[in-house]
Amino acid sequence: MALQLGDIAPDFESDSTEGRIKFHDYIGNGWAVLFSHPKDFTPVCTTELGEVARLKPEFEKRGVKVLGLSVDPVTDHRKWAADIEETQGAALNFPLIGDPDRKVSTLYDMIHPNANDTLTVRSVFIIGPDKKIKLTITYPASTGRNFDEVLRVIDSLQLTAKYQVATPVNWQQGDDVIIVPAVSDEDAKKKFPQGWKAVKPYLRVVKQPQ
Ligand code: BEZ
Repeated sequence: MALQLGDIAPDFESDSTEGRIKFHDYIGNGWAVLFSHPKDFTPVCTTELGEVARLKPEFEKRGVKVLGLSVDPVTDHRKWAADIEETQGAALNFPLIGDPDRKVSTLYDMIHPNANDTLTVRSVFIIGPDKKIKLTITYPASTGRNFDEVLRVIDSLQLTAKYQVATPVNWQQGDDVIIVPAVSDEDAKKKFPQGWKAVKPYLRVVKQPQ
């Protein structure tokens, strides 16, 4: 069965452009994003890897480690890295797993045979400090991902983890948030002493905690 939200992200050991990686050790006590690329030396992947390299300080600010995967060997990744730097103006600054035996891609169900039986789709897994999967997204090979959206989800997940608030449709950093239904009004008074706006008893809007 495919991995689901709340499952422990399976641990693995693999070669990467930054040496051998033990996934759970790599995550440490923070957050992680694991994302797959169909193949080396392909155009969309090249742009995505440049963008993630550019955004690395944003991931770091949030305590998130990033880890890419492509089914080709690390020796190819190293050659491709030169193209990424040349064409995207950003050098690969995070590990890219080599997965020629498809060990990790199979473990994470990143190969969808009815789309393509050898290449991975564009999977994204966000993993929390408890090593549990907090988000999965699957894009087709032909559509580049929006990594600003990945950061937005991380901000939402981290707010939920810290303050028991959820984020409404199209929420952006600094917008009002929603007190999660699991928090009673009585507990909400302690957590949000400044009060909230009850649009409905189940829709309680509060300023974003900092
Ligand atoms: C790409 O990264 O550009 C790509 C990879 C596989 C299929 C289609 C596009």
